[in-house]
Amino acid sequence: MLKTISTSLNQIDRASEAQMLRTLNTFAVDLMSIPSVEDLFWYVAQNVVGKLGFIDCVIYQADEQQTELMQVAAWGEKNPFGRNIINPLVIPFGCGITGQAAQTRKPIIVNDLLVDGNYIADTEPARSEICVPLICAGRIAGVIDSEHPNVGAFGEAELEILSTVAAMTSAKLELLAETNRSLERYDDLLVAHTQLSQETSNRKALEARLFEARKMDAIGRLTGRFAHEFNNLLTVIAGNVELLEFDASDAVAKDTLQVVKTASARGAHLIRSMLAFGERTRLAPEVIDLNAIVSTFCQDCEQSLGSPVEQCRAGDLWSASADPIAVENMLLALALNATQSGPKGGGIKIITENIFHTLAEGQAFPSELTPGRYVRLSVSDQGSGIKVEHMAQIFDPFFTTKAVGDGTGLGLSMVLGVMRQSGGTVAVQSEAGKGSTFQLYFPAAS
Ligand SMILES: Nc1ncnc2c1ncn2[C@@H]1O[C@H](COP(=O)(O)OP(=O)(O)OP(=O)(O)O)[C@@H](O)[C@H]1O
Ligand SMILES: [Mg+2]
Repeated sequence: MLKTISTSLNQIDRASEAQMLRTLNTFAVDLMSIPSVEDLFWYVAQNVVGKLGFIDCVIYQADEQQTELMQVAAWGEKNPFGRNIINPLVIPFGCGITGQAAQTRKPIIVNDLLVDGNYIADTEPARSEICVPLICAGRIAGVIDSEHPNVGAFGEAELEILSTVAAMTSAKLELLAETNRSLERYDDLLVAHTQLSQETSNRKALEARLFEARKMDAIGRLTGRFAHEFNNLLTVIAGNVELLEFDASDAVAKDTLQVVKTASARGAHLIRSMLAFGERTRLAPEVIDLNAIVSTFCQDCEQSLGSPVEQCRAGDLWSASADPIAVENMLLALALNATQSGPKGGGIKIITENIFHTLAEGQAFPSELTPGRYVRLSVSDQGSGIKVEHMAQIFDPFFTTKAVGDGTGLGLSMVLGVMRQSGGTVAVQSEAGKGSTFQLYFPAAS
């Protein structure tokens, strides 16, 4: 009879042990998917009380300096507030039973708290307590603590369960810390990569601008020197033609001389454009009112080009410093380009405005523009626009998309040369099929 009772008691023990193992297994599997330290502590407190059979559980987290513990999760009869811990308890290492467990790094079981001098009683004093430290990478990460109203409530079995829970929690804490470190390293790498890409693209842009500036400078020197020599020859030709014209009596000779005169005048115009591109034009800068020049130009333009020009002039426009004749020539070159820009042509609009140019903006321009005050003169059209592949070349001397004999390709290079020589620059925006805008930046007169 006695033997039968002891066999069935053994079976009950083994059954509850197997049940406990299953619970701990589930606990370990669940830990894997917990995303944060806060969730982890809360999950552990809930399960120690729930599935693992304790009636109370408080979890404390240690500070960086390893001097204090702070209550971070609590659940059970004494702590019904869920995740909202009001006035979390702070316990110095070495103080009370929890503080002792943190300092000694060893689990502590107190069978009767009333006779233990370390016990710090709260509003609902308990009679027995168990504390197990959480040790993570050689440091105290916190303490798992449970109290009971009865004397001697905790023994070997409870110690084993709570130590297993603490070991699993510590391992998960290490994993979360490593995940955080990896994320931080990833963020650092991302920042470094972005910086590197930024620097590379800045360097490429700088190299491209330097190459462009050197190319223009080289072409400018060459054309400038050639143009000077050629100009001298043209002066001799034009002077002698005039002398011959004076003496010529028959009509055929006069006609021939007229052809030579027209050709040398055209040659002189070409040479002036080339000199302008080489920034060797003789400019006579003065303080000018660009609004006045635009207004007169538009009247003449409408008559000579036969197309209306819309104007939008700023009322309080600053005075600019430039050669007024050169300004008219540039306006004419741009207006001609606008009218010739595709079947729709025309739709020309001229805008004047004050611009305070800052450094960042300068990067979009074909040449360096020192920060400061500028008067901007924009000439827009609604023509064909400029093809992307032509954009880098339009300011090159002799670049033209017009048929042979129709264009010299010196209009824009002259504009750029004069603008640079005047201390300003030209910017262009264009979209194929939608039109173009050329913006001339004149330094404002001081
Ligand atoms: N407003 C514009 N719309 C479309 N393309 C333009 C415009 N302005 C200039 N271009 C392009 O830039 C090229 C160069 O212009 P640029 O004024 O220097 O020479 P051109 O007009 O071809 O010749 P020229 O000025 O001697 O008549 C043009 O051939 C054209 O392809
Ligand atoms: Mg042109």
